[in-house]
Amino acid sequence: MAADSAGGSPAARRDRAVRAAVEQGLVGSGDGAEPLVCLLDTDGIRASAAALRAAFAGALPSDTPVLHAFAVKAAPLVPVLRLLADAGIGCEVASPGELALARAAGVPPARIVLDSPAKTPEELGEALALGVAVNADNRQELERLDGLVAAGPTASPLGVRVNPQLGAGTIEATSTATATSKFGVALRDPGAREWLVRAYLERPWLTRLHTHSGSQGVPLPLIAEGVRVLYELAEEINAAAGRRQVDTLDIGGGLPVNFASDAESPTYAEYAAALREAAPGLFSGRYGLVTEFGRSLLAKHGLVLARVEYTKTSGGRPIALTHAGVHLLTRTVYAPASWPLRVLAYDAKGAPKTGAAVPQDIAGPACFSGDLVAADRALPELAPGDLIAVPDTGAYFFTAHYGYNSLPRPAVYGFTAAPGGGRVRFALARAAQTRADLLRESGAPQRDALL
Ligand SMILES: Cc1ncc(COP(=O)(O)O)c(C=O)c1O
Repeated sequence: MAADSAGGSPAARRDRAVRAAVEQGLVGSGDGAEPLVCLLDTDGIRASAAALRAAFAGALPSDTPVLHAFAVKAAPLVPVLRLLADAGIGCEVASPGELALARAAGVPPARIVLDSPAKTPEELGEALALGVAVNADNRQELERLDGLVAAGPTASPLGVRVNPQLGAGTIEATSTATATSKFGVALRDPGAREWLVRAYLERPWLTRLHTHSGSQGVPLPLIAEGVRVLYELAEEINAAAGRRQVDTLDIGGGLPVNFASDAESPTYAEYAAALREAAPGLFSGRYGLVTEFGRSLLAKHGLVLARVEYTKTSGGRPIALTHAGVHLLTRTVYAPASWPLRVLAYDAKGAPKTGAAVPQDIAGPACFSGDLVAADRALPELAPGDLIAVPDTGAYFFTAHYGYNSLPRPAVYGFTAAPGGGRVRFALARAAQTRADLLRESGAPQRDALL
C-alpha cells in the first residue's frame, strides 16, 4: 500500500516536489542552476516508520519491549536519523562512524545496536562504556568481550550473531545466510551449535541472539525461516540454562523493496504475518524484539533529480547524457540486472513529460562507458534541459556516494508537500560537496608531501 498523506499519494507528492524544486531554483537549466539534486519525502519516511511500528505493535502483547533500529548504512545522514528517532526508531550501526552519526542525531545509547564483522578492541570498549548493545560476530570477538566484561560492569545488552545457512536469494552479493557467508556463527557447521549453546551457558551475560537473514532478492518465507531458526536456538539455550537467559531476539532487517512501481510491497504487516506463521512463539511476549530495517524504511522516499545536458545518437540509439550516474546509482550501474531502477521524464519546468515513448539510453556523467542508469529504456524522447527523476533511491544509492571522477556529492533536501496543493517546503539535509571540500579531501593540503 502506498504511503498516502494529506499531501497526496507518493507519486503526486513526487510530481509536486519536482516542479517545486525547479521553481524554487534547487535544480534546473538557468544560469548557474544546479544540474543535480537529491530529494527525500519526509512524510513518506514518517509513514514507513509508523507502518513498521504498527505492524509489530499489532502482533505483540502491549508490554513487549521492542526496539526498531534503523540500519544507518542505508542512509547515513544525521537529519534522517533525527527524523526517524522522532518517529520512534533507534539505530543499528556497523562502524565507529555510524555510531558517531547516531549519537550526533541524539539517539540515546540504549536505542543503538552495534553489529559489524570486524570490530576493533577500541570500538567494543567504546560501545560497552556507552551501554550500546553489541552483537558479537564470531568466537574471537566473544573472547574479546570476555575480557571487557571481566574488566567492569556494562549496561550493554550482549548477544551473538548467527547464520542459519539457509541459502542465497537472487542477489548473491547481498545474501547473508549462505553456507559460506562471512557473517555470524555458521550454525550448521559441525559442532557450531553445541559450541554456541555451551558459550551461552558459560556466559550468563549473553542475553540476546541475532540474525540478519534477509535482503533484497530474498523471499519472505526464507527470511521468516531464518527467524524461526533463531527462535528455536533461544528456546534450546534457555531450556539448557533452566532460565530465560536469552530475553531478546534481534531479527535484523532485510525486507525487500519493490523497485518496479510505487506500490510498497511486501508490507511490514505481511512480514509480521509471515513471521507469525513461521515462529508463533516470537509473538508470545516472552521475548523482547529488535529489528534492523534499512532499505524498506528509506528506499521509496528518495529521488535523484538530474538535468539532461545533451542528447545524441550512437549506432542509431538515442542517448541522453545526464548528471545522474555511477557516483549516485553505483549498484545499478555495475549490476543493472540485480538493481534495475525506474526513470521518469520531466520537462525543463518540472512537469511530467508526455509524448511517444522512444527507446533510449540514460547515461551518467562519468568517464567510463558503462555509466548507464538505464539502457534502451522507452521514455518520451528527452531533450537538453529536461530532467530525469530516479525514484526509490533513498537507501544505499545517493546516501552511499562513490567518488569516481571526483564527481561531488550533491545536496540532499527533505521535502514536505502541504495539503490541498499548497507550497512544497524543502529543508537542506546535506549540503553539496564544494570544490574546496573536494580539494581538501583529495590531499590538496598535502600537495608537496610526496616530492
Ligand atoms: C546486520 C544488518 N542489519 C540490518 C541491515 C539492513 O538491511 P536492509 O537494509 O536490507 O533492511 C543490514 C544490511 O546489510 C545488516 O547487515
